Amino acid sequence: MPNFANPFQGNVPRIMTQQELIQAIRLDIAGELEAIFIYDAHSQATDNELAKKVLEEIRDEEKAHVGELMTLLWQLDPAEATKFSSGEGEVKEMLEKLNITPTVKP
Ligand SMILES: [Fe+2]
Repeated sequence: MPNFANPFQGNVPRIMTQQELIQAIRLDIAGELEAIFIYDAHSQATDNELAKKVLEEIRDEEKAHVGELMTLLWQLDPAEATKFSSGEGEVKEMLEKLNITPTVKP
């Protein structure tokens, strides 16, 4: 599990700077990803139909939260958005070289 070395995991005693906010959003994204993993693990580990359905629904809501936070992060730090786009482009190049049809981004 990631262990972020910053104090913004709980109450923040003041208004954050822009850079601190960016770091806090990264931490929030990590928290959402961890939640997805945990809900998914618990869903896979039960045969209780209701529990499975509730956990999977919550897990999917967390995925939407990742999308919201990533979009916010890119808005706050456009340079980071450029890096992410660069990585996306690299994988698309690999897909093309491997002759794999990319899935369409929703
Ligand atoms: Fe969430």
